[in-house]
Amino acid sequence: MSEIAVIVVAAGSGSRLGHPEPKAFVALRGRTVLEHALDGIAGMRTPATVIVVAPAPQLDAARQAAPNAIVVAGGATRQESVAAGIAALPEPARIVLVHDAARALTPAALFDRVVDAVRAHGIGVVPGLPVADTLKRVDADGMVDAAVDRADLVAVQTPQGFPREVLEGAHAAAAEVLTDDAALVSALGQPVRTIAGEPLAFKITTPADLRRATESLGGATRTGVGVDAHAFAPGVPLRLGGVLWPDAPEGLSGHSDGDAACHAIVDALLSAAGLGDIGSRFGTDDPAYAGASGATFIAEAVRLLAVEGWVVLSASVEIIANGPKIGPRRADLESVLSGLVGAPVSVAATTSDGLGLTGEGRGIAAIATALITPA
Ligand code: CTP
Ligand code: MG
Repeated sequence: MSEIAVIVVAAGSGSRLGHPEPKAFVALRGRTVLEHALDGIAGMRTPATVIVVAPAPQLDAARQAAPNAIVVAGGATRQESVAAGIAALPEPARIVLVHDAARALTPAALFDRVVDAVRAHGIGVVPGLPVADTLKRVDADGMVDAAVDRADLVAVQTPQGFPREVLEGAHAAAAEVLTDDAALVSALGQPVRTIAGEPLAFKITTPADLRRATESLGGATRTGVGVDAHAFAPGVPLRLGGVLWPDAPEGLSGHSDGDAACHAIVDALLSAAGLGDIGSRFGTDDPAYAGASGATFIAEAVRLLAVEGWVVLSASVEIIANGPKIGPRRADLESVLSGLVGAPVSVAATTSDGLGLTGEGRGIAAIATALITPA
């Protein structure tokens, strides 16, 4: 357990974002807002103990997103959610950071800077950015009362860091609901220091913020790679690349139809999405897949990707075999495989110069790649 703990508050509903699921569980480029937020913490120089505060119905989802974290249920206000996180702090934690999951793109360096400043000064530390807009104080009718000098204003962000006892004391003494933890500390008359914030630590509040976050993540295509090999088995028909080869002298062994080309494509698709591989997803000895066609596995992989918010842009497979000759049927294979994947699939073939499993004529291998993007 670390001397540093980060409480990630993710228990809000996200009413201003207006999605059916709570804001921290909304998809952002194929992963949840919470998962993105955890990336920044995972990148910290000194590993921290992570406490995720989630809505009660999402506790399991939060545990999946953060398998090494302490996960607790939040409350009706952000302040109650932070308090729930404080109650779960492990004994060794001395420096505690409180972070909004909604600030999903906060870089690891900001967490490090907050920790350093808490250590250096022994007081609360909040990151802040200068205010860019001209500010006015207005009355209830919208009439301008006075200009506000923005030179001495900062817009504060999270993570906000505190010596543990300072944060605990501020929450224990909280007399009203305030919008951040530094405000509770200030309300006790205790000092809080600001440090330079990060534009990327902006909070996802509205649909426009979610678009900004999506764009900040860039094109976000992902590639995957897959390899498979099957030995020849006499007396079975050859299925390769999703098609039957009636003239082939023998087929391929395997629990399923042994279609190495399709299986390599499935692994490429799953790996691109970070969804494991064909063995871990479908179980190589699962009776449900006995004799299953390569087409079945590709269709299932494409469906799994869609559930996770991915579409396939293209795939490519190279078959390594002495025979059958792929060239004459290349167009046929490409059309069948493209139909299965729902995107262009190119097919190439090679021999391995007489070497190894395929070169010695004992079987067929295939290597595939896939390119995917968030739907
Ligand atoms: N939060 C929380 N528990 C609450 C309310 C908010 O843990 N009862 C968290 C949110 O999940 C978010 C952070 O506090 O990460 C900042 O709050 P905000 O951006 O206001 O999120 P929501 O309250 O979910 O959004 P909204 O106010 O639009 O409903
Ligand atoms: Mg809120």
